[in-house]
Amino acid sequence: MVTYDFKGQVAIVTGAARGVGRTIVNGFAAAGARVLAADRDEAGLRDTCRPHEKSVRAVVADISSPQGAGAITGAAVEHFGQLDICVNDAAVAPHASLLDERVEVWDKVYAVNCRGTFLMTQCAARIMIKQGRGGRIINFSSGVTRRGSPGAAAYASSRAAVESFSRVAAIELAPYNILLNTVSPGLIDTQPKPLPSGMAARLGSRIPTLPLARPGTPEEVANLVFWLSSSASSYVTGAVYTVDGGSGVGTRPSGQIVDDDVRYDWVTGKASQ
Ligand SMILES: NC(=O)c1ccc[n+]([C@@H]2O[C@H](COP(=O)([O-])OP(=O)(O)OC[C@H]3O[C@@H](n4cnc5c(N)ncnc54)[C@H](O)[C@@H]3O)[C@@H](O)[C@H]2O)c1
Repeated sequence: MVTYDFKGQVAIVTGAARGVGRTIVNGFAAAGARVLAADRDEAGLRDTCRPHEKSVRAVVADISSPQGAGAITGAAVEHFGQLDICVNDAAVAPHASLLDERVEVWDKVYAVNCRGTFLMTQCAARIMIKQGRGGRIINFSSGVTRRGSPGAAAYASSRAAVESFSRVAAIELAPYNILLNTVSPGLIDTQPKPLPSGMAARLGSRIPTLPLARPGTPEEVANLVFWLSSSASSYVTGAVYTVDGGSGVGTRPSGQIVDDDVRYDWVTGKASQ
């Protein structure tokens, strides 16, 4: 088992009220970091912070506004005196057909997923630059940026924008020794159960087609975040890392793998007998 030591470090985690964000908060706290956990969901955030009275502070804020992003990053410095790592996990993922998509929902997706990631990156980087000892920023994307997925026009394109933004940000922040990378998960089991019936049926048919035939766990995503936050990744910046059990490269083979084309001998080129 890999263990990390983040003693003496301060991390921000957005989207901390549930799912992957909550798991990252727990992992950082267990590895000795002090954590500023942020989300717009106050009740969920309270549940995340409850087991960590001393090491985790909560800020209820909206990352999509300059005030919200400023409040989150400012609170890290105010409570803990420094900022070393910023994990921008918060996102929204509504789905709708292109023909039914509402402009208000489209704008919300871009406000949270793109503007929120930009604002958090900018606010965190300004603090890290002022401190003068580098830092780590980890942004979030999705495997859906690389394939057409019905209903995902707003979400998929907003996550693709994060990948593009993060490449530019990594280059601009490299002179300050701030390393910035993007984590691109595949299907991760984060949704509260029971699932709505349509969603359960869709997942029920999709999961067997995944190369590992199972969704990933929040811990499996968090492990990548911890590696990207640690000294083990000191020469890594500007990268997009997938943690998707292979779903970005193909589907699980169904049945025996055979060559159906029996007309020729592939070595001699002659017709088969
Ligand atoms: N779960 C998956 O299958 C999956 C797949 C691909 C990518 N991802 C990405 O991984 C990350 C985590 O996914 P998850 O499933 O744990 O997400 P989730 O939906 O369970 O949690 C997202 C959190 O972000 C918070 N949030 C949303 N808008 C906010 C705002 N404006 N300000 C502050 N907080 C806000 C929500 O309240 C919620 O607690 C996301 O960036 C997502 O895009 C997830």
